[in-house]
Amino acid sequence: MLILLIFFLLFQLSDSQLVIHLNSLKGENFQNLISSTLPYSLYVSANEDSTEILKQIFVQGKNLDEIRDLKNSKSTGFLLSPLKIQSSSAHISSSLPDYQLASLKGFIYVTTTKQALDDSFLVYDVAQRQTIRTNHTGNYTLVFLNTNPTYSSTISNWTQGSSSTAKMYKGYPTDLLEDSFLFSNPVEPVGKDLKLFSVVEKFSVRFPIFYFKITNSLLFQIESGSFDLDGYSTAGYDSTGFYMKPRNEKPKNFTITCMKDNRYNGSTGILMSGSNLPTDATLRIKFNADDSSFSIIEIADIRIPGFAVNMIYSSLTVSSNNTDDGEVYVQYYILQDQFVGTTSTVQQTTMIPVTTTKGSNRGYAVWVLIMFLCMIF
Ligand SMILES: *[C@@H]1O[C@H](CO)[C@@H](O)[C@H](O)[C@H]1NC(C)=O
Ligand SMILES: *[C@@H]1O[C@H](CO)[C@@H](O)[C@H](O)[C@H]1NC(C)=O
Ligand SMILES: *[C@@H]1O[C@H](CO)[C@@H](O)[C@H](O)[C@H]1NC(C)=O
Ligand SMILES: *[C@@H]1O[C@H](CO)[C@@H](O)[C@H](O)[C@H]1NC(C)=O
Ligand SMILES: *[C@@H]1O[C@H](CO)[C@@H](O)[C@H](O)[C@H]1NC(C)=O
Ligand SMILES: *[C@@H]1O[C@H](CO)[C@@H](O)[C@H](O)[C@H]1NC(C)=O
Repeated sequence: MLILLIFFLLFQLSDSQLVIHLNSLKGENFQNLISSTLPYSLYVSANEDSTEILKQIFVQGKNLDEIRDLKNSKSTGFLLSPLKIQSSSAHISSSLPDYQLASLKGFIYVTTTKQALDDSFLVYDVAQRQTIRTNHTGNYTLVFLNTNPTYSSTISNWTQGSSSTAKMYKGYPTDLLEDSFLFSNPVEPVGKDLKLFSVVEKFSVRFPIFYFKITNSLLFQIESGSFDLDGYSTAGYDSTGFYMKPRNEKPKNFTITCMKDNRYNGSTGILMSGSNLPTDATLRIKFNADDSSFSIIEIADIRIPGFAVNMIYSSLTVSSNNTDDGEVYVQYYILQDQFVGTTSTVQQTTMIPVTTTKGSNRGYAVWVLIMFLCMIF
């Protein structure tokens, strides 16, 4: 009896478990209890899994294949409609044997009550290319689920209203205060006032779940699959973009060409953070100028929030070292400043280290930044 009880408790899906991996379910008609607080919304992302198997797993009389396909018919994109669990606790059950469930790759995403009751809490599956659009007024939480083989999503054609703000986070949102964001627009450029960049460059992320907090109107396209930044050319004089090095992958060096008008001065900046990085992880940015001179900045501690240089370069080469096991997130920006007439030959490169600290970086008062200036004429 005691053993049975322990067994039951072990398989009770806990409160905090808002993502239930299908391969963790127990089969043979076991009632896997979802013990979240009622009411809540439930979504399924399972793009790699067999429809036949999904049709044999049930929650409140609906099978997972049906739940996965619940789409909001009024919306233009592939906004998902949740299975709403209102008044009595729900179980996931299947007559299939455990080993068949263990082969599944998808997951069930369960929201909190507050999220379930929020009309501006929207969940999408990135399996299909779609256009995401928010209205002129209002606060939105947009959650993206990805169960494609590499968890890659690519975001492009970003068009943001002048009163709009957007921040991107990894994982799923909780009801608590947000963690630190990985990308935002407006950006807080190092040592400058908040700036809404008119151009957000195409970028990729690699997460099974991530979300945006958005105020007012924003439009972008999202699709499954990754996009290689190496060789990319930026599309605006004032622009920002994002790069992420995924976990368990060797970093690749990449070079992006920066659109610039030599009659203006300006600055180039990097805001960064990381996850699961060893202390010897480094990030290196090589700033290449028109006359083939260059500067290299090597950041010996990725926990510093960012830095900027008072110059716009023709290209940037980013590489990192000892980051294989962890994730590195980089938001870069190129900010045009004032008309200074015809090209001044050699501009002084002044580095402005950051003075502000982002939420996750508190406590890291000591940081090391090594800069090499290698001017070759
Ligand atoms: C935008 O507003 C319209 C009309 O008020 C509404 O029908 C629609 O659902 C809203 N869109 C979003 C994404 O909230
Ligand atoms: C959006 O959120 C901000 C800050 O949280 C709040 O001041 C504002 O009133 C909200 N706007 C709407 C339309 O709910
Ligand atoms: C998105 O951007 C691409 C490349 O800039 C362009 O070819 C395409 O037409 C755009 N799509 C929309 C819907 O604006
Ligand atoms: C990446 O760049 C670093 C120096 O910035 C260099 O040592 C390394 O060989 C490069 N790796 C590749 C794969 O090109
Ligand atoms: C651009 O030049 C103006 C005028 O000389 C100067 O005030 C400003 O600080 C410069 N901007 C940058 C980013 O160096
Ligand atoms: C990368 O780190 C290793 C070990 O810390 C070091 O031997 C190597 O020189 C570093 N490579 C670069 C390009 O910094």
